[in-house]
Amino acid sequence: MRLRNKRQALGSFCKVRFLNHKIPLAVRWQLTNRCVCQCQYCNIWKTPESELSLAQIKAILDEMAALGTQTISFSGGEPMLRQDIGRILDETVRRGISTEMNSTGAGIAERMSELKSLHYLKISLDGPEEIHNAVRGPHAFKIAMKAAEAAAKAGLKFSFATTLTKFNIQEIDFILDIAKRFNTMAAFQPLKKLYRGVKDVSGLEPDPEEYRRVIDQLIAYKKAGDPHLRNSQIGLHHIYHAPQYPRLKCWAGRVFCILNTDGTLMPCDRIAYSSPLPNCAASGFRNAFLALPEVHCAGCGFCGVLELNFLMAFKLGTLDSVYKVLK
Ligand SMILES: C[S@@+](CC[C@H](N)C(=O)[O-])C[C@H]1O[C@@H](n2cnc3c(N)ncnc32)[C@H](O)[C@@H]1O
Ligand code: SF4
Ligand code: SF4
Repeated sequence: MRLRNKRQALGSFCKVRFLNHKIPLAVRWQLTNRCVCQCQYCNIWKTPESELSLAQIKAILDEMAALGTQTISFSGGEPMLRQDIGRILDETVRRGISTEMNSTGAGIAERMSELKSLHYLKISLDGPEEIHNAVRGPHAFKIAMKAAEAAAKAGLKFSFATTLTKFNIQEIDFILDIAKRFNTMAAFQPLKKLYRGVKDVSGLEPDPEEYRRVIDQLIAYKKAGDPHLRNSQIGLHHIYHAPQYPRLKCWAGRVFCILNTDGTLMPCDRIAYSSPLPNCAASGFRNAFLALPEVHCAGCGFCGVLELNFLMAFKLGTLDSVYKVLK
């Protein structure tokens, strides 16, 4: 992040924290529901929805930049299935906003030249080849590794993202070893029972005792200074309690929001809403953001929001991770 942007981010933080402003500092943008995988814990691919055109995306980016958005994490579905992903990234960076992307890795190696405006890539990795493929589909592991190799070769910053299930809960060392091999990091996140309100994942949950033992192990690694573990220590202590998280004020809808494929805007996609949500394609991003409902939520382990929530609560142990989010 450039110095001017860092100053702007700090100013925005103070306005939200002390003056009750709403500023969409961090946005997750679901560009498409189309996907190359049919993962056991996710059925986004089953919910085709209209997608925004590049012209609509540019108009929304203009409004985001004017409101002070610092970082956008593009996701999906598989964002690489957008043929205009390179243009979308270019247009984002041209407006002074930093870019991240969550991906299976599909097409990354082949289309690296389109990703010159991507600042940070998160490649999903759910364990050794048999486990990763069993959860995500045939060839998924090779695709993820090919993407990691291409990113490393091109000097694109990247890390791995692991969703913990009963299949890979024993595989944290394998995943950290892969991160080490690529001289990067891996972040672990708990499985969500409700993901965009549609998927029952109870059959994939790790045994609760085993889950806590593994998170304890990760906490021990973090304390010992493991450079390949991306989660913050405070974040690991928080997700230890999944699914009954300690109370933590959530700032979703005030500093963070999720933009869906069709332009629908929401504070987060882990809860159900009783009234219709605003749509940026219809009313513009600014109006939609200001119209977001307040969330009154007990807390969760949604890593992207978690780090921002810790920052807003002045839990400074997370600063290194937030720096990564807002880098
Ligand atoms: C929704 S995917 C979109 C990007 C891309 N398709 C991918 O899988 O990397 C983003 C992340 O959400 C995670 N995810 C999907 N369903 C989940 C669930 N039920 N609980 C927790 N994480 C989930 C995936 O493992 C992935 O790392
Ligand atoms: S987790 Fe990602 S790759 Fe898997 S089905 Fe969902 S969107 Fe597709
Ligand atoms: S606590 Fe988690 S689930 Fe609840 S609104 Fe915030 S991000 Fe969403």
